Amino acid sequence: MAQVELKQVRKTYPNGAEAIFGVDMHIDSGELIVFVGPSGCGKSTLLRMVAGLESVTSGEILIGDKVINNVSPSERDVAMVFQNYALYPHMSVRGNMSYGLKNRKMPADEIERRITDAARMLKIDQFLDRQPNQLSGGQRQRVAMGRAIVRNPQVFLFDEPLSNLDAKLRVQMRIEIKKLQRRMNVTSIYVTHDQTEAMTLADRLAVINEGRVEQMGVPMELYANPRTLFVASFIGAPQINLIPVRFDGTSLTNGTLKLAGFSDLPTGVDLMLGIRPDVLSIAPEGQLELNVDLVEQHGGENLIYGALLGTKNAAGDAQEICLKGPQSLLPATDDKLRLAFDPAAAFVFRTDTGERLK
Ligand SMILES: Nc1ncnc2c1ncn2[C@@H]1O[C@H](COP(=O)(O)OP(=O)(O)OP(=O)(O)O)[C@@H](O)[C@H]1O
Ligand SMILES: [Mg+2]
Repeated sequence: MAQVELKQVRKTYPNGAEAIFGVDMHIDSGELIVFVGPSGCGKSTLLRMVAGLESVTSGEILIGDKVINNVSPSERDVAMVFQNYALYPHMSVRGNMSYGLKNRKMPADEIERRITDAARMLKIDQFLDRQPNQLSGGQRQRVAMGRAIVRNPQVFLFDEPLSNLDAKLRVQMRIEIKKLQRRMNVTSIYVTHDQTEAMTLADRLAVINEGRVEQMGVPMELYANPRTLFVASFIGAPQINLIPVRFDGTSLTNGTLKLAGFSDLPTGVDLMLGIRPDVLSIAPEGQLELNVDLVEQHGGENLIYGALLGTKNAAGDAQEICLKGPQSLLPATDDKLRLAFDPAAAFVFRTDTGERLK
């Protein structure tokens, strides 16, 4: 167990591609940090620099109190789990798990003890003599985790370990990883582009955008208090509703829509009003009118999609929004619904910079 520290870490690939622009981060001992962000934002690059699989162009990475920039991957005491499992196909599960330990000349009885413990924890004890191609995807991923666990590392690094699994198994494994990480209390960095995985797994999460950490904090803080349009739109499922507006000195306006309850905003600049789907409610006197397109029944709740009457988005169409409602709310296509929201629960961003203004 160890803390991890990144100081002004930058990465420029040999071909000149700049991937990471000065990341600072402190990860406490035992914490589970999730890096989340869209494809290509630099999550794997950052993780691979911690693992030692990519060089650090400038800045420092510390594990414990030690700068590890020039320490070889095998000496860093980190264990990485990859999306594609990266198991040796010709070796048994036991062989895969023991390989790294044998290389380090660990006594056989100690290896056996570690494998037995990890296999029991991961419920793969009955597969120890099978080869990877005789296992399901979920079982293979467990073996990959087992191989990391037996090394008893200071830090676990996960790069999208669940993306090859089906949706149901992914949820199940995500819960198991969280429980396992809590029990073992090993400092962990987990990379994903899946916001639900990020929200549910993380002690704290770092939202990464184009090689920079846009915001870092506990998941609910990022949800309730996003600093930028990017963070607000990346965190939360279904996605936050974003309505382009302007401020006329007293109201937010778009087409014939006028929304009161906002003040201290700049006039003459493009703004984006952000309203989470669960902040909207049905109310006869509501400020918004929705023309219903589609209802998605999710079991416990329904998601209602439709166009906001009177508004126009950048493409000239009425702005689409989504509302979260109870099971019993089942409007038909083209029904009109009046919706209300509390302005205090909505966000306003500058469209050009993405900065949150309220
Ligand atoms: N070996 C490389 N040489 C040059 N550029 C690279 C290399 N590896 C990655 N990049 C670039 O660095 C940027 C970040 O890539 P990275 O793989 O870290 O993204 P990511 O956030 O992990 O994306 P994904 O979710 O798709 O895995 C991308 O623009 C990518 O094209
Ligand atoms: Mg990646």
